[in-house]
Amino acid sequence: MTDASSSPVPPVTIHRTAYRPPEWRVPEVALDFALGLEETRVTAALSVVRDADAPAPLVLRGDALTAEAVRVDGEAWNGWRMDGPDLVVDLGDRTAAVVEVDTRIDPAANSQLMGLYASNSMLCTQCEAEGFRRITFHPDRPDVLSRYRVRMEGDKAAFPILLSNGNCVATGEGEGGTHWALWEDPWPKPSYLFALVAGDLVVNRDHFTTLSGRRVELGIWVRAGDQDRTHHAMASLKHSMAWDEQVYGREYDLDLFNIVAVSDFNMGAMENKGLNVFNTRYILADPDTATDADYDGVEGVVAHEYFHNWSGNRVTCRDWFQLSLKEGFTVYRDQSFSAAMGSAAVKRIEDVRVLRAAQFPEDAGPLAHPIRPDSYQEISNFYTATVYNKGAEIIRMMATMVGPERFRRGTDLYFDRHDGEAATCEDFVRAIEDGAGIDLTQFRLWYSQAGTPRIAARLEGDAASGEWVLHLAQTIPPTPGQPDKAPMLIPLRIKAFDRDGAAQDTAEQLVLLDHADATVPLGRFAGRPMLSINRGFSAPVIVDCARAPGELAWLAAHDDDPFARYEALQQLMLDTLVAAVSGEAAERGAVVDAVRETLAGAAADPAFVAEAVLLPSEAFIGDQMVTVDPDAIRRERLALQAAIGEALESEWRAILADPAPPATDLSPAAKGRRRLRGVALAYLGATARDDAPALAFAIFSDADGMTERQAALATLAHGDSDERAHALDIFYQRYRDNPLVLDKWFQVQAWSLRPDTVDAVRDLARHPDFTLANPNRVRALYGAFTANQAAFHRPDGAGYRLLADLVIALDPKNPQTAARLIPPLGRWKRFDEARAALMKAELGRILAQPGLSRDATEQASKSLV
Ligand code: PHE
Ligand code: ZN
Repeated sequence: MTDASSSPVPPVTIHRTAYRPPEWRVPEVALDFALGLEETRVTAALSVVRDADAPAPLVLRGDALTAEAVRVDGEAWNGWRMDGPDLVVDLGDRTAAVVEVDTRIDPAANSQLMGLYASNSMLCTQCEAEGFRRITFHPDRPDVLSRYRVRMEGDKAAFPILLSNGNCVATGEGEGGTHWALWEDPWPKPSYLFALVAGDLVVNRDHFTTLSGRRVELGIWVRAGDQDRTHHAMASLKHSMAWDEQVYGREYDLDLFNIVAVSDFNMGAMENKGLNVFNTRYILADPDTATDADYDGVEGVVAHEYFHNWSGNRVTCRDWFQLSLKEGFTVYRDQSFSAAMGSAAVKRIEDVRVLRAAQFPEDAGPLAHPIRPDSYQEISNFYTATVYNKGAEIIRMMATMVGPERFRRGTDLYFDRHDGEAATCEDFVRAIEDGAGIDLTQFRLWYSQAGTPRIAARLEGDAASGEWVLHLAQTIPPTPGQPDKAPMLIPLRIKAFDRDGAAQDTAEQLVLLDHADATVPLGRFAGRPMLSINRGFSAPVIVDCARAPGELAWLAAHDDDPFARYEALQQLMLDTLVAAVSGEAAERGAVVDAVRETLAGAAADPAFVAEAVLLPSEAFIGDQMVTVDPDAIRRERLALQAAIGEALESEWRAILADPAPPATDLSPAAKGRRRLRGVALAYLGATARDDAPALAFAIFSDADGMTERQAALATLAHGDSDERAHALDIFYQRYRDNPLVLDKWFQVQAWSLRPDTVDAVRDLARHPDFTLANPNRVRALYGAFTANQAAFHRPDGAGYRLLADLVIALDPKNPQTAARLIPPLGRWKRFDEARAALMKAELGRILAQPGLSRDATEQASKSLV
């Protein structure tokens, strides 16, 4: 069904510097809901207080709403008008009033999944960033904080469970089979943190005792039958609560913490005060249906949303340009938490891989923006890898420079100073400066300058003295609206090793590169030292440093920083692949030897080894080239994979011969072994060994859990064996009624390295189980497809056409999710002329659609520049 309610408006650009404090405050909000799937009636009573010195009209934002009645201080009121979608109430020279507005909405027709909507006959809300204005008229800006009192009434059979923020203070029976509940949230909050859920739900209840001895009731609400898949989420929640007390001194501040899982959700989850709403994929997990990576995803997202209770809710954002204030900091917090729960080294590798896959390309393309953007047309388009993941790296750099104790003093001061306020990124930086005792004047450029800095690193030695130095030079590429950049403050953890000496001999240094160029003394070495640079990925930069294959292999084997070991092997693989793609004779021996050597440590740390021996993705290889050649990259990467698969065949077979740990064993050691088995299977699958499909099929059939099953299915999906078709069919029949697992079935086919994947994706889009109504399903198919570089970039443009068709079909229903799929088309500058022309043509076709949303218009038009 098409949601035609929000009519297209010409794009208006909103500027950060145009911020003005609100003229009216709204200390209290009372909401009254008469719930129905097709019709919900809302009465909102806003207690407003004027802050402006002179009389000012009260502007209440709306989106596709009609005001059915307006009352002021209990009396019918005619002094109002519509200004486009907004309601403007003339309050004369009043300085305070209670303004009541009646609206009526149709949740079942809300396919945007913003505001109040229906999902599986349950009602739920999503208000960040500007969804509250689709429920009722309101200033709907994060610097207007109110105490909420919410009464909802609905049919008892349809909506047995009625939830909102805070505490339930009264319930009762109504007429005609209805019942009602009254909820009060004692903490003032912005409208984007409002939530309401009504439906037929069951709960997994538990409790947590806070540091100060208070008991907090915990509830995870799901559909009947899903309770058994909530235990990992509950354990993750309790671990998060304990960790935030220990590491940040932050205690939970309500008596109740509820989580609700919904199937139809645009993002991962939402941190509404005391009532988090989650995409089912980040709550439901059991060994039969969720992979180890899915388990980690649940743990990380549960933590993320919980941590927002302080970094986001108690201290919120002044305006949406400050989004990274809550998101960058909270991602940093959830990353640190996950690192503490498992292997910190593996977590760091995963986080950097995500940054390089999603954020670096964004920073290098037409949609590049600073972590604190200067302007936007549609704020939904700025929930980006830059604001989130690069934002987290900026916080991490501050923590690296001051160390944990001083960083904690900084964050304590931040929470202290700004508790209950709507703050800015500048407030955060100042609190770290004051609390940790550091001058961040130059460091602030990370908030305002976009683009990934590049650092050229060069070693130089003096033969006579044996003294070596490191020359560093930074450049920051131009990005849209920012042609020239000033040098940034870049913290680089560096260490130089004596190749023949002990690996631990020299001390690590933290170099603060604050000029365009610098020379760093390294000390005395008998020969050219082995350079370990940007250890632990201390700064989100690209380092260009000529190191011979032998040096990289030495570092991969001997560096005492695990991330640097991983990085050295990746660089060796990358150099080998880029050379091969550029037509140089393929010299694979050094890579094979380094992988062999790394595999020797598999027993001690299988998860790390599994990460380290993975080949760089096709997209990341492409990112190293001036003009991406997707077909050559595909060919050379497959060839290297096959060469490693064959050369180390007995190693891979030995890994697979060792039986998998039981799927119910979720210890880091068991997860690591499964991960390594998946990698071994992929390498064997890339060889021409006849028994490879049968081996994969046996693993698929014998698997007692989803990690092994999915890994085997993904390996089979690349080929064209009979086992492939058979396994896909078995998987489909077994899981056709489980949407989250069916997503995987779509995903592995869209990931396939087969040459006919574009056609397969086109067919899958017509499969009866494919639907545009569910964002998870859309992303499973099309998100995986656009990540499949050679398929998406098929030379005839069929992949681009397929994506544009999807965007055009989805935009009228769900503009937010449609717009998020556009960026892959905007990478045209990196491809050959023929592909670039085809990509631009599809962007143009999207833009030519009548009634295109503001979301898609902004993404497509900026992508064409
Ligand atoms: N604020 C949510 C988070 O980061 C993300 C989100 C944004 C969810 C917008 C829905 C809509 O946890
Ligand atoms: Zn968040």
